Amino acid sequence: MTSRDAASSSELEQTLQAVDDGLEAALARLFAFLRIPSISTDPAYATQCQEAAAWAAKELVDLGFSATVHATPGHPVLVARTDSGAPRRVLFYGHYDVQPVDPLNLWHTPPFEPRMGETEDGRHTIVARGAADDKGQVMTFIEALRALKTTTGHLPVDVTLLLEGEEECGSPNLPSFLESHAAELKADIALVCDTGMWDAKTPSITTSLRGILHTELTISGPSRDLHSGLYGGAARNPIHVLSKIIADVHDEQGRVTIPGFYDDVVEPPAEILARWKALNFTPESFLKPVGLSEPAGEQDRLLIELVQSRPTFEINGIYGGYIGGGSKTIIPATATAKISFRLVADQDPAKIRAAFEQFVKARLPADCQFDLATGEGARAFMVPPESADLTAASAALKAEWQVEPVTIGSGGSIPVVGQFRKLLDLDTLLIGFGLDDDRVHSPNEKYDLTSFHKGTRSWVRILEALA
Ligand code: BES
Ligand code: MN
Ligand code: MN
Repeated sequence: MTSRDAASSSELEQTLQAVDDGLEAALARLFAFLRIPSISTDPAYATQCQEAAAWAAKELVDLGFSATVHATPGHPVLVARTDSGAPRRVLFYGHYDVQPVDPLNLWHTPPFEPRMGETEDGRHTIVARGAADDKGQVMTFIEALRALKTTTGHLPVDVTLLLEGEEECGSPNLPSFLESHAAELKADIALVCDTGMWDAKTPSITTSLRGILHTELTISGPSRDLHSGLYGGAARNPIHVLSKIIADVHDEQGRVTIPGFYDDVVEPPAEILARWKALNFTPESFLKPVGLSEPAGEQDRLLIELVQSRPTFEINGIYGGYIGGGSKTIIPATATAKISFRLVADQDPAKIRAAFEQFVKARLPADCQFDLATGEGARAFMVPPESADLTAASAALKAEWQVEPVTIGSGGSIPVVGQFRKLLDLDTLLIGFGLDDDRVHSPNEKYDLTSFHKGTRSWVRILEALA
């Protein structure tokens, strides 16, 4: 070891020590962030979204960043940066918006009153909406910056932070923002902290994400809600029509029957399939913890294929008619389903939407109209599971967790990463510390304290390694 290496290795130790010593204060800051109900999908929370962006901007200004909160047609985008002249620049992306909290009555404590909790097997947790997705993860990165800044006085790389507030809506305004700010967002690599680990001990780099198309289908029939006795038997019922159409989407084998749906799906290479078969990814380990026992999708596929390399059609919500207390004997005028497709490989959201539209048209009985929303889409994303930065980050993760990191695919979607490649010519490293039992998008969302603490330490090491 040269004396310079020795000096920097002790600097690294000091920085990690600063993370440990500062954990309590870091948690207090995360709690303040979590108290802001920045629900992006519900227009009623627009002010709170602005508040969350402003809160993060202030944190970063306190750390010596220049920060700008940019207005967009939707919720604001925060861009913060250092300009120290370091040889490399990373673009960090995260989102300050969170999912709605319904059903609220299933939360053990109010979603925006963060608290410490404990899992059945004794892990300490941070419980709140956004704890894992994505405020807790964003703060692992910001706290790493703080520890580096306060210990060494500088950062090993220049950093641009891009925090958006519409990820949970499909990032509708981000592509045009990226285009108009491309020069300002130029970097050597993008880092995203919005994914999970393989398990609580094994750190991971995510190398594929599924794409998504979400839309809404409304079927309308009679010009008003009708008395179901006076008209029943004669009047077409939009809920029946909607139910039949969406039931038709899957056949007995769990395959999607929309013509052309699988045209651009690619089979995973044989060596990947062999590796997947060797994993202990079973209904017992994956489904049992959520109260299920049998995979419901395509019958001839491995469980891991179903959640990583195969496309899906899901109904996320359905409404129509009377859903209040007691009964009301009507035939409703309309019925609506909120729909999302997960896309893989080369599937094109626009093509899938058009194919589904034809599918609906072909099944529409007399006296019914339909409306299919334009929808938001993003293609699937895949990075080559090898690169110098990936190797460096992987070594940094190993040093922190003392376990060989694995590269994994994820069934979730983060629309922006495809845009980074296309609009900013940037590769992305997806590194996150979420766990399968975090209950993201569900009641009682949590983030393990270990994820938060060792996640922060991991970023310190990764930023050093990327320099
Ligand atoms: N962070 C998630 C996606 C995710 C979770 C990726 C776990 C990998 C592991 C993200 O916030 C998310 O929920 N995305 C949405 C996107 C949609 C609303 C366009 C999704 O996947 O449903
Ligand atoms: Mn997220
Ligand atoms: Mn999410």
